[in-house]
Amino acid sequence: MNKERAQWGTRAGFIFAAVGSAIGLGNIWRFPSVAYENGGGAFFLPYLFALLTAGIPLLILEFTIGQKYRSSAPLSYFKIRKGAEWLGWWQVIVSFIIATYYAVILAWSLSYAYFSLNTSWGDDTEGYLFSSFLKVLPGENAGQIGSIVPNVFFPLLIVWVLALAILFAGVKKGIERANRVFIPLLVIMFGIIVIRAITLDNATAGLQAFFAPDWSQLTNGKVWVAAYSQIFFSLSIAFGIMITYASYLPKKTDITNNAFITGFANSGFELLAGIGVFATLGFMAGQLGVGVNEVVSGGIGLAFVVFPQIINEIPTWPGLFGFLFFASLFLAGMTSLISIAEVFISGFQEKFGISRRKSVAFGAGTAAVISILYATQGGLYIFDTVDRFINQYGVALAGLVEIIFIAWIARELSALQNHANSMSDIRLGAWWKICLGLITPIVLGFMMIQTFTTDLQSNYEGYPTSLIMTAGWGLSIAAVLIGVLFTRFKWKGIHSSIPQSPN
Ligand code: PHE
Repeated sequence: MNKERAQWGTRAGFIFAAVGSAIGLGNIWRFPSVAYENGGGAFFLPYLFALLTAGIPLLILEFTIGQKYRSSAPLSYFKIRKGAEWLGWWQVIVSFIIATYYAVILAWSLSYAYFSLNTSWGDDTEGYLFSSFLKVLPGENAGQIGSIVPNVFFPLLIVWVLALAILFAGVKKGIERANRVFIPLLVIMFGIIVIRAITLDNATAGLQAFFAPDWSQLTNGKVWVAAYSQIFFSLSIAFGIMITYASYLPKKTDITNNAFITGFANSGFELLAGIGVFATLGFMAGQLGVGVNEVVSGGIGLAFVVFPQIINEIPTWPGLFGFLFFASLFLAGMTSLISIAEVFISGFQEKFGISRRKSVAFGAGTAAVISILYATQGGLYIFDTVDRFINQYGVALAGLVEIIFIAWIARELSALQNHANSMSDIRLGAWWKICLGLITPIVLGFMMIQTFTTDLQSNYEGYPTSLIMTAGWGLSIAAVLIGVLFTRFKWKGIHSSIPQSPN
């Protein structure tokens, strides 16, 4: 790989890509229910606090690392300290694992978008998941695999063909172009949903439920932890993604302002999703004659069980509403999937000195094959387990290690601050170092201890121990070990013009 490093065509292109990564399924199905359950309107306080003390500071940190070292995550850490390379590979493996199941949720969305246009949703809502469409095994059979489900498998093929085509085309011609089209399209489509949703009967009841502040929740530590973990996941931090994307920035560019724009754009979309989802839930509660609290759910249940039920009831053009909703999920997820795949594609490229195309074919190709495991009847429970563990003991834990390493072991914060300040509009002050050196590690450390004790006490979702041991703990530990294994290979593709670490 002796060619020039790939580069974004424009500043807006980079911002679109970073925003595209940040806006994902988490914005649409995670944020609304998390906010509702953690104080409603009062949640905005811890949420904003987490955004300003951890989200944006970390985004600035990762943008600066990527832009300064102009390398994939593992090579960036390697350049800071040789011994830290494993941390980058850990994030690479975690990204790889996430890509394998994230693609399957996109396949579900694609399936549902298609059903919305072509099928009238019957009354049997639970049935869409378990019998008629996705044929998921009933909960008591969690842990079994069952057979491959065509309604998931074929859309999954489409998902990967599209993702591979975008990735093959490169950073500027593929990723940048796709985001420039997908993100505005997503905002328009989702905007239509929100407008439709707030004009439905009883929408205000939903919005009231969403925004009603429960101030007493603010003294509850769990609420603050929920705010931090939402911000973390939602901004795609500690996945290695933002380091990778920033490594394609030009040598002179703004960093800090870009991070603020990305952070606020993502939160803005989150708020929009909260309004759209809760207006719709208010409508549904009205139809059923129950309180909004009885119809609230998050995650897969919200998107694939509750929403189809609502679509059924929408008076005009229910198919269009359903299509826009699932197509939005698909677009939001596709731009995130591409970003997460780029983490391992860039890592493999530099480590093994192979071309981008080979790396895409090998990396994303392997992820595609493995993802078939989740296109089975038992796939839902496997990915639910993997998702939970890999987010906690992959993303969040690696984030904690990353921040401790940068702030306290390599003591790089001042150097990075100077680097960012030398080219950005907004100058970083002492607050940035305090947020990263103290506040974030303390909150993250507290979060880790809390989840770890919960997970030791009981099986997540009551799933069978065999599933928890393999797809949960087993895979989380394997991610670190495989990461360490990668450091055994020599760097074959390091660009000669990149200065090596002074250390
Ligand atoms: N920010 C993404 C979201 O909100 C998180 C994510 C990014 C997940 C990339 C997977 C891959 O959904």
